[in-house]
Amino acid sequence: MDSDSKLRVFSTATSGSTWSRSTGVEPAPLTDSYVNSPTQPIQAVSPVRKTKRLAKPPRLNRIVAVGGGKGGVGKSLVTSSLGISLAKRGKRVVVVDADLGGANLHTCLGLTSPTRTLSDFIARRVSSIEDVLLETGVPNLRLISGAHDHLTASNLKYFQKKRLLSKISEIDADYILLDIGAGITLNIIDFFLLADEGLLVVVPEPSSIENAYRFVKTSLYRLLWRALKTGPARGVVEHAMDQKNAEGIRTPFDLLEAIERVDAPTGQMLKEKARGFRPRLLINQLRFPEDEGLGRSMATVCRRHLGIDIDAIGSVSFDESVWKANRKRRPFMLDYPESTAGAALGDVADSLIFSHRGSYPRPASGV
Ligand SMILES: Nc1ncnc2c1ncn2[C@@H]1O[C@H](COP(=O)(O)OP(=O)(O)OP(=O)(O)O)[C@@H](O)[C@H]1O
Ligand SMILES: [Mg+2]
Repeated sequence: MDSDSKLRVFSTATSGSTWSRSTGVEPAPLTDSYVNSPTQPIQAVSPVRKTKRLAKPPRLNRIVAVGGGKGGVGKSLVTSSLGISLAKRGKRVVVVDADLGGANLHTCLGLTSPTRTLSDFIARRVSSIEDVLLETGVPNLRLISGAHDHLTASNLKYFQKKRLLSKISEIDADYILLDIGAGITLNIIDFFLLADEGLLVVVPEPSSIENAYRFVKTSLYRLLWRALKTGPARGVVEHAMDQKNAEGIRTPFDLLEAIERVDAPTGQMLKEKARGFRPRLLINQLRFPEDEGLGRSMATVCRRHLGIDIDAIGSVSFDESVWKANRKRRPFMLDYPESTAGAALGDVADSLIFSHRGSYPRPASGV
């Protein structure tokens, strides 16, 4: 049985529901038009004397991307609530609506549709990322509202995503939380990988579990593929994405073995990369006590079949107070911090703070 079949069995058993094959979410292809472009402009080389650049100090802020593959699982609720919790704990926080298709993070913060958004920065209508930073009314918490201009925003090239992340990383804050939206498209996967850490929100339903697993698997392949600029190993990774490939590569384990056979040092380098990929998992909308163990079960499946560790960071119950806050158009975490879901999200904020590793390298601007 291949790893996907095992996951189907596992997910059906865990949730007790019928397995659905048609999730409507297609994994992203590994390539994007920029990477594949056969005609990259060749830069004229002028005899400029090289000057030594002063190394920038490492960043002290921490960028956390909140994803999960499936729509409606609670990514925006989690992003806004963690933002409020961290801000209440004295951290300077910016929440960014990087859901380039369906921006609505402002609603979770009780704000009406802002006039300045990420679109203005992407389209260079404003010169600085600071120009689209908005006050939320919550002390220590600012918002970058999502792009509403689909054509500009949803087809970003890789270098544009890197530039965006690089500019966002320059914001003076302790935590920058990105709501990256639903799906397993390249935009979403790249934001997840470009952030310092990734948090996956999953609900105890087969389609959400399957999407989260595919999200992790596609991210891992994309990470390995991006680590290779050229060479035969890159072709091996591309073959591996086709689950029915003739080479018999079915798992990332098989893939890394296949690469080691064609290029041992590259295989070692990629194993190191894969070890550094450690997403966190938050189970949301829990309704039954037996679903409590879902995070641990998914971590076991990912270790066994993808060879990576994921950290189950917490679980949040389905809570009527979320709905009550929605109806009042009020931020849930401001009005119901003592509710069951509010307290659990507060615990997740605490564990984010306690697991802070210190400093992070600056992402290259790519431009
Ligand atoms: N723990 C919870 N208890 C009750 N309701 C919840 C909980 N988490 C999320 N919800 C509700 O589920 C719905 C979806 O949540 P949210 O908009 O945060 O999901 P999302 O993953 O951001 O969706 P999308 O993919 O469409 O952006 C909202 O109505 C939200 O209030
Ligand atoms: Mg959302």
